[in-house]
Amino acid sequence: MSRKKLVFSGVQPTGNLHLGNYLGALKNFVSLQNEMECMYCVVDLHALTTFQKPDVLRNNVLETVASFIATGLNPDKSIIFNQSSVSGHAQLAWILNCVSRIGWLNRMTQFKDKAGTDKEKASVGLYIYPNLMAADILLYKATHVPVGADQKQHLELSRDIAQKFNKDFNCKDFFPLPEPLIPKNVARVMSLRDGTKKMSKSEESDYSRINLKDSAEEINKKIKKAKSDSEQIPDNLKSLEKKPEALNLINIYSEISETTIEKVLNEMSGKEYSFLKTKLADLLISEITPVGKEIKKLLVDRSHLEEILKKGREKANFIAEENIKNIREKVGLI
Ligand code: TYM
Repeated sequence: MSRKKLVFSGVQPTGNLHLGNYLGALKNFVSLQNEMECMYCVVDLHALTTFQKPDVLRNNVLETVASFIATGLNPDKSIIFNQSSVSGHAQLAWILNCVSRIGWLNRMTQFKDKAGTDKEKASVGLYIYPNLMAADILLYKATHVPVGADQKQHLELSRDIAQKFNKDFNCKDFFPLPEPLIPKNVARVMSLRDGTKKMSKSEESDYSRINLKDSAEEINKKIKKAKSDSEQIPDNLKSLEKKPEALNLINIYSEISETTIEKVLNEMSGKEYSFLKTKLADLLISEITPVGKEIKKLLVDRSHLEEILKKGREKANFIAEENIKNIREKVGLI
């Protein structure tokens, strides 16, 4: 069955977006908006799974919209909106809670990471979060989902849920099985302090990540301090297998300079990591600091950002209402 391609992705409004969000998701969002119909959602209901101060959350939603626009999303091309403003997300999430299986959720590694050692104290929302994510995507019958590799397991669950719904309600192909679009080189940007952990907003040390709002001095300092390796840069990838921090810097450099890893190793083999770091810091400064400046500029006019969300909500709601009507009919709700 051929269906119209539709891109959907979401970003949590939990403060400063970082290089992982940028290379894993946002850059891809921007290039896709010229190829297909795209919907980009600030997933504020997802943020509630861990406690958020209301004022901070409100600010972070607008800052995420500003980050979308500053990286190049165009609200005339892409539908930009916040999740809680379209009630269909919560309604479909409930229906999918009843389709999804506890055994499936028990396998989600992100819940295990986020809940930590005392799982009894984690919110129920955090546990069923992947069902809400499936609802986000399926509410619009999205066919393609650009995400970083950390979301791959959630995407697989969304496909399982779609498949089970189609089977349970005897409606083959009703929900498409969404395809993940994961960048090849830097599917997972790692922490600058520990190359076995992903770069994340929740890691304590700010030196572990490059934030989109960092100044040139901060980027310089963070890259200089990033863990690398005392040996010289090798000429092959295999030698980097047990050196995750060094590999991470090379991967980031390869992505930002739009050069293959092989070419980077060719160019740099035999040199110290300080050489790579100087070049990487320069490239990051020229790519990231204009984005940070634009975010700060956009945040001055909050009503403009609210207007973008309002227009986006109207368009998203239009699609959602039609789909929710059909979904309710399929499951037997009057
Ligand atoms: P979130 O808000 O944690 O991250 C937003 C996007 O950034 C990507 N990302 C990374 N990519 C590479 N390296 C990293 N270190 C890194 N850190 C974050 C994420 O993969 C993501 O693409 N559950 C999602 C939000 C969501 C969603 C959806 C996504 C809710 N509903 C529907 C797609 C479709 C999340 O928490 O992303």
